[in-house]
Amino acid sequence: MDYKEAEKEIKKILKKFNHSTAVASIVDFLYTHFPQYHWIGIYLVDGNQLVLGPWKGKHATEHTTIPIGKGICGSAAMTGKTERIDDVSKDARYLSCFISTRSEIVVPIKKENKVIGEIDIDSDIPEAFTQQDVKFLEKIADMLAKHI
Ligand code: SME
Repeated sequence: MDYKEAEKEIKKILKKFNHSTAVASIVDFLYTHFPQYHWIGIYLVDGNQLVLGPWKGKHATEHTTIPIGKGICGSAAMTGKTERIDDVSKDARYLSCFISTRSEIVVPIKKENKVIGEIDIDSDIPEAFTQQDVKFLEKIADMLAKHI
């Protein structure tokens, strides 16, 4: 799907639903319209760890809680910066969830500069995420910040 069009649709979803339903609906929307996004989850910061919220994918992950600072997810939560990993097998921080995953993107969700959660997406395709995905998902993270 076209990124601009997706942004508009996501804005509509966020207007229509209450907070918890809205976040789960965005996960569903992204999973349905971006076929290269094979697993999508929203982690929320709870004290010194990340706790998995709504997710969509073929399989459940065993990493439902991740300490801040651990893995790609924990790194992004610690620095507040987007992590785009072209080849997960080459990143020593990587915590494996699915054997099929080749690339990953983690985008922090921030409120007043504080990380409150993140969008985590795994792809079975190597180098699946482009600079366009980074920009798009950072916008979605900003929109989600108002609903968490
Ligand atoms: N790969 C992540 C863990 C979460 S799973 O991808 C769902 C990481 O390295 O932090």
